[in-house]
Amino acid sequence: MRKTSELIWQDAQHQVLFQILDEIAEPSRGTDILEKLQLYTETHFSLEEEYMEQLGYPGREAHRRAHDRFREEIAQLLQPGQVRDEAFMALISTFLTEWLTRHVLGTDKDLEDFILRSDAK
Ligand SMILES: [Fe+2]
Ligand SMILES: [Fe+2]
Repeated sequence: MRKTSELIWQDAQHQVLFQILDEIAEPSRGTDILEKLQLYTETHFSLEEEYMEQLGYPGREAHRRAHDRFREEIAQLLQPGQVRDEAFMALISTFLTEWLTRHVLGTDKDLEDFILRSDAK
C-alpha cells in the first residue's frame, strides 16, 4: 500500500495491517493469522481512539463506530465453527482490504488532518 498518512506511527501501523491482510490470502498460511489481525487491529484502533479522546476530536463517536464494525467482522471470523478454508480466507482478505482502504483514505484522513493541526503529533 502506498503511503497512507503523514503521521509516521499511523502510516506504519496501516502498512502492517495491509501486510497481515495480504498474508490471510496466502494459501496454506493457516488461520492463526486471524488472531494476529485481531491483536494488531486492536493495537492500532486503540491508539487512534486514544488520540481522539485526548484531543477531543469532534468525529470520535462515528470513527469509533467504524472501528467497532471492523472489530465485529474479525470477531465473527474467529467464531468457533466458522468455515475458514482457502477460498474463504481469500474472500475475507479482499473484503477487509477494501474496507480498510476506504477507512484509511477517508475517515482516518480526517483524523490525521486534525492531529497534524494540533500540537500532539
Ligand atoms: Fe487507522
Ligand atoms: Fe481509524
